[in-house]
Amino acid sequence: MAFRTLDQAVDLKGKTALVRVDFNVPMSEGENGCRTVSDDTRLRSALPTIRKLQAAGAKVVLLAHFDRPKGKRVPSMSLKPVVRPLAELLGQPVAFADDCVGPAAQAAVAALQPGGVLLLENLRYHAGEEKNDPEFAAQLAALGDLYVNDAFSAAHRAHASTEGVARLLPAYAGEAMRRELDALDKALGHPERPVMGIVGGSKVSTKLELLRHLVTKLDKLAIGGGMANTFLYAQGHDVGASYCEKELAETARDIIRLAGQNNCKLFLPLDIVVAEKLAPGAAARVRGLGEVDEDERILDAGPETVERLCRAISNSKTLVWNGPLGVFEIPPFDKGTVAAARHAANLAKSGKLVAVAGGGDTVAALNAAGVTGDFTFVSTAGGAFLEWMEGKTLPGVAALEA
Ligand code: 3PG
Repeated sequence: MAFRTLDQAVDLKGKTALVRVDFNVPMSEGENGCRTVSDDTRLRSALPTIRKLQAAGAKVVLLAHFDRPKGKRVPSMSLKPVVRPLAELLGQPVAFADDCVGPAAQAAVAALQPGGVLLLENLRYHAGEEKNDPEFAAQLAALGDLYVNDAFSAAHRAHASTEGVARLLPAYAGEAMRRELDALDKALGHPERPVMGIVGGSKVSTKLELLRHLVTKLDKLAIGGGMANTFLYAQGHDVGASYCEKELAETARDIIRLAGQNNCKLFLPLDIVVAEKLAPGAAARVRGLGEVDEDERILDAGPETVERLCRAISNSKTLVWNGPLGVFEIPPFDKGTVAAARHAANLAKSGKLVAVAGGGDTVAALNAAGVTGDFTFVSTAGGAFLEWMEGKTLPGVAALEA
C-alpha cells in the first residue's frame, strides 16, 4: 500500500503539525506517589519526526493517549509525567496543556513558536476519542494545519486521533510509522523468499486468525511456546500437566491441514524441556515426544527442536517472529528462545536474513537475549502488530493511503 510521507509535505514554515504519537509507556510509581516513565523507547521513536518538523519550521503539537480512562479525567492516567523525559531527550522545553481540546488546548497552541513542541493531555479523557466522534475529530483538527501519524502501535484503533482527524487535514505518515510500514512490507507484504515465521506464546485461542493467515503466506512456520502443546496434544501426544487448550485440538488439526494445502512447512517440537515446577533454576529435563510424565509440564523447546529451527532460519531469507518458544522469563526455560533469537540476530547482522519481530512478549524476550539491536526491525506494537500479521487493514494506516 502506498501512503503519504512527510517528504511530501511542503511549505511547513510556521504551520502547526498535529502529530499522533504513542506515549502509552510503562510508568512506575515512586515513594512520593510520583509517576515516572520507566521505558522511554516510545518517546525516542517519536524524535525523528519531531526534529524533521522542527527543521522545516513547523510548530509541533503532540496528540497521545495513556491507558484506558474511558472518557473520564483520571488523574493517575495523565500524560504530564511524559513532559520532562521528552524535554530531556529533545534538549528543549516541552509545553503541556491540560486538555486536548477547548480553551486550554487552543491557548497553548496559540502560544507556540515555530520549532516549539506542545504535548496535549490524554485524548481518552474524552469519550469522543474512542468513539471516533466526528465533532471531537473536528475540534482536534481545528488546532492544526496538517496531521502526521507516527503511532503504528495505535493504528489498529479507528479513533478520532488515529482515523477521524486524518480525514479532515492533509495527512502523512511520520518517520517511525514509515520505517515500521517499510519493515513490515519487507517481512510479509513483499518478502524475499523463503519466508519463515515463528509464532509462540501460550494461547492458541488468541492467535487462531494469525496462524490461519500465516500458513497461506509463509513457506515455513514454526509453532512454539505453550501453544505448541495444543498442537502436540492434537497429534495424539501426551502433554502431562502442561498448559494445553484441549478443546482446540480440532482447530489445531485444521491449521495443520491448511498448512499442507498451502505448501507451508510446519515445524512443531521434536523434543521438549519439562519440569514439575515452574520456578527459577527448577530441575529441567529434556524429553522426547510421548515421554512426558503426568506431573510434568512442558516449559521450553528441546535442543533438537531448536537446532532444526536454526537450520530452517539459516535456509530462509526472511523471518517474522511473534511470541517466545518457552517461558523465557524464568531461566532455564529461556534457553530455546535465546538460542533461536541469537541465531536469527547473527544472520540479520551479517545481512543474510531480514528478521522482523514484534508483539509485547517478543520484544521482552529479544531484550532478554540481548539481540534487539541486531534484528532488522523490532516493533514495539502489541495489538497492532498482531492485527497486521493477521492480514487486517489497520484504520490508522488506511487513512494515510496516497
Ligand atoms: C499499545 O500500547 O499497544 C497502544 O498504545 C494501544 O493501546 P490500547 O490497546 O489501549 O488501544
